[in-house]
Amino acid sequence: MIHDNGSSNRSNNRSFEDVLRARMSRRNVLARGAALSATGFLAALAGNKALVQAAAAATAPQAGQAGAGAGTAIAQAGSRLFNFPAVPAANAAGPVPTISSAYQYEVLIPWGTPIQPGGPEYTGDPNSRPTAAQQTQQVGIGHDGMWFFPIGNGNDHGMLAINHEYGTNPHILGKLAPTSLEDVRLSQHAHGVAVVEIKKTNGKWQVVSSKNARRIHGNTPVTFSGPAANSPLLRTSAGNAPLGTLNNCANGYTPWGTYLTCEENFNGYFGATGDWTPTEAQRRYGFAAAGFGYGWHLFDPRFDLSNPSYRNEENRFGWVVEIDPMDSSQTPVKRTALGRIKHENAELVIGRGGRAVVYMGDDERFDYIYKFVSDSNWRSMRARGISPLDQGKLYVAKFNDNGTGNWIELTINNPALRAKFNNQAEVLTYTRLAADAVGATKMDRPEWIATASNEDVYCTLTNNTARTADNTNAPNPLGPNPWGHIIKWRDSDQHVGTTFRWDIFVLAQDTHNTDQSAFGSPDGLWGDTDGRLFIQTDGTQPTVNGVRLNDQMLVADTNTGEIRRIFSGVTGCEVTGVTVTPDRRTMFVNLQHPGDGDPTVTNFPAPTGSGRVPRDATIVITKKDGGIIGS
Ligand code: FEO
Ligand code: CA
Ligand code: CA
Ligand code: CA
Repeated sequence: MIHDNGSSNRSNNRSFEDVLRARMSRRNVLARGAALSATGFLAALAGNKALVQAAAAATAPQAGQAGAGAGTAIAQAGSRLFNFPAVPAANAAGPVPTISSAYQYEVLIPWGTPIQPGGPEYTGDPNSRPTAAQQTQQVGIGHDGMWFFPIGNGNDHGMLAINHEYGTNPHILGKLAPTSLEDVRLSQHAHGVAVVEIKKTNGKWQVVSSKNARRIHGNTPVTFSGPAANSPLLRTSAGNAPLGTLNNCANGYTPWGTYLTCEENFNGYFGATGDWTPTEAQRRYGFAAAGFGYGWHLFDPRFDLSNPSYRNEENRFGWVVEIDPMDSSQTPVKRTALGRIKHENAELVIGRGGRAVVYMGDDERFDYIYKFVSDSNWRSMRARGISPLDQGKLYVAKFNDNGTGNWIELTINNPALRAKFNNQAEVLTYTRLAADAVGATKMDRPEWIATASNEDVYCTLTNNTARTADNTNAPNPLGPNPWGHIIKWRDSDQHVGTTFRWDIFVLAQDTHNTDQSAFGSPDGLWGDTDGRLFIQTDGTQPTVNGVRLNDQMLVADTNTGEIRRIFSGVTGCEVTGVTVTPDRRTMFVNLQHPGDGDPTVTNFPAPTGSGRVPRDATIVITKKDGGIIGS
């Protein structure tokens, strides 16, 4: 699949020796991590997450009372965080979703929904696609990370910012390759971000007219900020202004009320029509003459790597982009201080002294985990007119086999980088090369990073079929690793320290003997302030009792380690993106590429057998008894 760069080898053949070695490795890790686990799991302190949410509620222009279930924010160790019936594996396959019998779902905004009521709509007619112009007024495709920004008390009204990661040519265009610039523009406009205003009326959530609804797509004006903003590396000789955000994978949000969207596999949109030899950096970021097959470069010179006028255009992607969901007049800002990688998400927590700390994964096999720490208190920086995301230090993680770790500074002051880079703008534009130079730990595809009820930080490592038995390490103990795992760590000094202690939270293969918890390829991840972790999957799932599971969402209790399936998606779709209303009684989740876009597999959300093109969609989850989602 286009999105999972380099993950086409799904072989899971492993020798017994590999399994034995991996298990022994894990046991050692667990033994070493026991002391850490005890303190991590038992710390009954209000988490930093709660602080961020409270701050967001207090500072967001239209936010009401500090919600996020403040009254239930402190989970007691050993408490039971959920009692819903699991979706049995036997029901976790097929062309329509399945949800726990204690829950219900409805479809909210599929691809093609007008962002203003009465606008042009696309409902999946395979013979009549949206025009490029219509797509700029519609919800895009490839729904991924998202965040709900409350209006009023927020429990029945807010702005939903949602990422549109990607769609294949057959899915968007109905053909293998674009044959005109209009086709390319339609594809570009289907990418990016949608901001819609949604409201629950008569018990049903729907899109309402809004002065701040907007589509940000591949051709929307953007600006750069931070240390690399004025670098020649971000300028072209064509002199074209920076446009667009692409491959918007997962997300983050800030305590000052903005949305963070993260650019992941941006390399795939570029190609070469003529002679082109990749630079060292272009190779490291995976640029290739054919790209991923989108074919944009054939009609839009901006994406042609062999066109000298647009040299450096590719450096304008791979960033974290900040968007104001409450003011559509604000231009999206690419925050260069956070580095240029294949960004998965951006988990922002408040560290010691009120500093903004952003944890980020680079999703490729053998790539790294990063964090950014703002120079000082986020409130005082903003009071001085400085974005906390513009001034600070970027670090990359080195995991030691003994359960400790180090955050290595990626600044030009680091002697290992001064030898190779001229200035901080270069370090940030070529973050991967900088991290290579300082000995960061190669991980098994870092996806989402999340915190829950305390200072523990969790990261999904989705899988890595290319890791071999002879290059495992303690944090990545399986070679190959076809099912993935979730790692956790705790930084010294309330998220701002340069050391940490880590442990493995779960190896996905260890869930495969249990019907209610069997999963693979963990990807989306979000923690609530009670200590529930919502785990979403993207990729091959295990076969349980003869049933090959669909991608799914499970809830983990970080106190006990118990994991339970709450939702099963549609055949061929990834389950991703998770956000809640302040009372946590409504959850929004995305189904990405149902049926991989093939109407013979599923017509979701149209009725089965309707012949409609399946459409990526946001769904709304509520508990039948009105309870907190995940309980
Ligand atoms: Fe867009 Fe790594 O998932
Ligand atoms: Ca995806
Ligand atoms: Ca993902
Ligand atoms: Ca993935």
